[in-house]
Amino acid sequence: VTIPGDKSISHRSIMLGSIALGTTEITHFLEGADCLSTIDCFRKMGVEIERKPSSILVHGKGLRGLTAPASTLNVGNSGTTTRLISGILSGQNFATTLSGDDSLNSRPMKRIMTPLNTMGAHIRSLNGCAPLHIRPGALHGIHYQSPVASAQVKSAVLLAGLYADSPTSVTEPALSRNHTELMLQGFGAYVATDLHTDGTATAHVEPCKELYGQQICVPGDISSAAYFIAAALLVPGSELLVKNVGTNFTRAGFLKVCKAMGADIETVSQTIEGGESRADLLVRYSHLKGTVIEGDIIPTLIDEIPMIAIMAAFADGQTVIRDAAELKVKETNRIDTVTAGLKAMGAVITPTDDGMIIEGTGHLNGASIQSYLDHRIAMAFSVAGLASDGETQIVDSQCVDVSYPEFYATLNSVSI
Ligand code: S3P
Repeated sequence: VTIPGDKSISHRSIMLGSIALGTTEITHFLEGADCLSTIDCFRKMGVEIERKPSSILVHGKGLRGLTAPASTLNVGNSGTTTRLISGILSGQNFATTLSGDDSLNSRPMKRIMTPLNTMGAHIRSLNGCAPLHIRPGALHGIHYQSPVASAQVKSAVLLAGLYADSPTSVTEPALSRNHTELMLQGFGAYVATDLHTDGTATAHVEPCKELYGQQICVPGDISSAAYFIAAALLVPGSELLVKNVGTNFTRAGFLKVCKAMGADIETVSQTIEGGESRADLLVRYSHLKGTVIEGDIIPTLIDEIPMIAIMAAFADGQTVIRDAAELKVKETNRIDTVTAGLKAMGAVITPTDDGMIIEGTGHLNGASIQSYLDHRIAMAFSVAGLASDGETQIVDSQCVDVSYPEFYATLNSVSI
C-alpha cells in the first residue's frame, strides 16, 4: 500500500504557502476533509489555490497580504486548522471568526488564546471553545512555557511570532511534532530548537519580513500507515509493504512501540526530503507482547493510541499506557471511546485518568462499534474487526473522510 499524504504537513503547506510570496507547489497533498477546510479558509481570505490532478498550487499573498473574509471561517472537524490559523490571524489587520462542527466547537481553545492574547491579540470565546472571535493586535515576542506538549499550541505561537516585534520562544514539557519548525525553515524563516537534558524542548522564531514559496513533497502519514502496519501484524499469514511512510522522529513512536511489542518490521529503503524522513516498511504477522508506554514518547504517538490499545488486546500480557491525558481532548475523549469499543469486543481494559491498562487475551470478538464520528476510532476498530472472530460493524464509518477518504477501498485491496 502507498499511504496518503501526512495531514499535519498538508495543513502546514497550505498555510505557509498562503502567507509566502510566490507559488508553492505541493505534491502528495492529503485531500481529506480536514485539509480541504484549511484550503477553504485561505481561499476565503483571497488566496488562489489550484487543485491540479497531481499537485496543489498555492499562489501566496505574502505575510501581510491576506484579505478579510466575507463570513465566518468554517474549520469543520479540524483542530489543527483552528489552532494554527489562529496564530496567523492574530497578526493580520482584520478581524475574523472561526467555527466548526459540534466536536470541534467543544475542544479546548484556551490553550492557544492564553499565549496569543499575551502576545497582544484579542481572541474572545464564550466558553473557552470555538466559535473564536479574533481581533489582531500589535504583537510582541514572548517566551511561553506551555503546560502541554502540543504541536498545535507551539505552532500557533510560532506562527504569531513571525508577526511580532521581537523573538518568540515556546518551551514544552516534551518535544511534540516539529513539522512547523522544519517547514518554516524551508520557507526562509529563522527557527531553532533546543532539546534540554530534562526532556523539555524550546523552539525559537525570529520576526520575519517575508516567507518564500517552495516545492513540497508531502510524505505518507504515519498515523494512517499505523492501521495497515497493525493489520499486517495482527492478521495471521500477512506480509505487507507499506510505502512512503513519514518517519520523522517526532512522529515515529508507534514504530518504537511495535518493536517493543515484538513486531517484525523491516525498513526497506529510507530517504529524506525537506527535512522530513520517509521509508518503505515491510511488515509481517507477529506474535505481540504487552509493553509500557509512558513519558516523552507519548506526544510522538498520541494519535496512534487507539490502534496500539487494540494491538495490546491481541498481545500476550499486560500493556499500560500512562501520561496520555491529552487523549481526552481529541476528536472524542479517546480514553472513553477506545474503552467502550474494546469492551464491546470482549477485551479486558481499565481506563485510567491518563491512559488505560489492557490485559492481552490474544483475541477479540466481532461487535457493532460506535465511531462517535471520530475517524481514528473508525479506522482502528475496522482493523480490530479484520483480526477478530465474527463480524464487526462500524457505525458512522464515513467519518474516516477527514483524514483518509480511501481507507476502506485500500483495506479491501489488501484483504483476502
Ligand atoms: C497535530 C498535533 C496533535 C495531533 C493532531 C495533529 C498537528 O495535536 O493530535 O492530530 O498537526 O499539529 P496536539 O498538538 O493537540 O497534541
